[in-house]
Amino acid sequence: MSLAALPVIEARALGKSFNQLLVLKDIDITVNKGEVVCIIGPSGSGKTTFLRCINQLETFDSGSLRLDGELVGYREAGGALYRLSEKDIARQRRKTGMVFQRFNLFPHMTALQNVIEGPTRVLRQDVAQATATAMQLLESVGLANKADAYPSELSGGQQQRVAIARALAMKPDLMLFDEPTSALDPELVGEVLHVMRDLAAQGMTMVVVTHEMGFARDVGDRVVFMDKGSVIETGPAKEMMTNPREERTRSFLKMVARD
Ligand SMILES: Nc1ncnc2c1ncn2[C@@H]1O[C@H](COP(=O)(O)OP(=O)(O)O)[C@@H](O)[C@H]1O
Ligand SMILES: [Mg+2]
Repeated sequence: MSLAALPVIEARALGKSFNQLLVLKDIDITVNKGEVVCIIGPSGSGKTTFLRCINQLETFDSGSLRLDGELVGYREAGGALYRLSEKDIARQRRKTGMVFQRFNLFPHMTALQNVIEGPTRVLRQDVAQATATAMQLLESVGLANKADAYPSELSGGQQQRVAIARALAMKPDLMLFDEPTSALDPELVGEVLHVMRDLAAQGMTMVVVTHEMGFARDVGDRVVFMDKGSVIETGPAKEMMTNPREERTRSFLKMVARD
C-alpha cells in the first residue's frame, strides 16, 4: 500500500445522539495520511461534533471510529468492546491537535509559555529543548518577535497562529481545525489561512471545518458536505466545489457565495 493511502481517520457508520436528537447519522469519512479534508455545511449539521468525537471530547453511540488504525476510545477483544483506560485515552488524544474558533490560549501566559506548556508538562521535555522547538514553531507562523507577548497584546489572527503553534508543539499526527477563522476580523483571516496552507504543503494531515470556500477549493484534497447529521456528498475538492453532484450541495454553495 502506498503511504498516501494509509488512513489516519476511518469513520464507519458513525452515530451520535444528544438525548433524542440524532446529530451524526451513519457518517462515513476517511482521511488518508497527508490529506487535507475540508468539511463544509450549514450550522447544526454535526461538523463540530464529528471533530469532538475524533479527539474524544465526545463519545459516539454507534458505528466505529479509527485513528491510525486503532479504535478510538475502545479496544476490541473476543468480539467485545472495552472502554480504554484514562491513560490510553490520553495517549490517543495526544495524536490530534485541535484549533478552535475561539483561540483558547492561556491568558496569563506569554505566547512562548503557551507553546511550551504541553511539551514540558505532558511530554516532560526539558524547558530548553521545548523552548528551542517552540521558537521554531513561532517563527514558522510568523510570530518569533511576539514570543514574550501575552494573548491580550496580540490580535485575533496572531492569537490563532499561536494556537496553531501550540497544537503543533505536541507533534500531532493529525490537525483538526474547527472554523479557525470565523471569529476573526476579515482583514486577519488571510494570515491564518496562509499558515494553514503552509502546513498542508508540508504534508500535515488535516481535517478543516470551514466556511472559507476558497480555502476548501484550493487547499483541500477532498471536501465533505454535511447537512443535518449526514454526509450528503464527498469528492475531490476542485470538482466538488465547482460542479457538485447533489442538489443540496449546490444550493448550499450558492447560498454561501451570496454572503
Ligand atoms: N452538548 C450538546 N448537547 C446537546 N445538543 C448539542 C450539543 N452539542 C451540539 N448539540 C446539537 O447537535 C447538533 C450539531 O451541532 P454541531 O456539531 O455543533 O454542528 P455544526 O458544528 O455543524 O454547527 C446541533 O443541533 C446542536 O444544537
Ligand atoms: Mg460547529
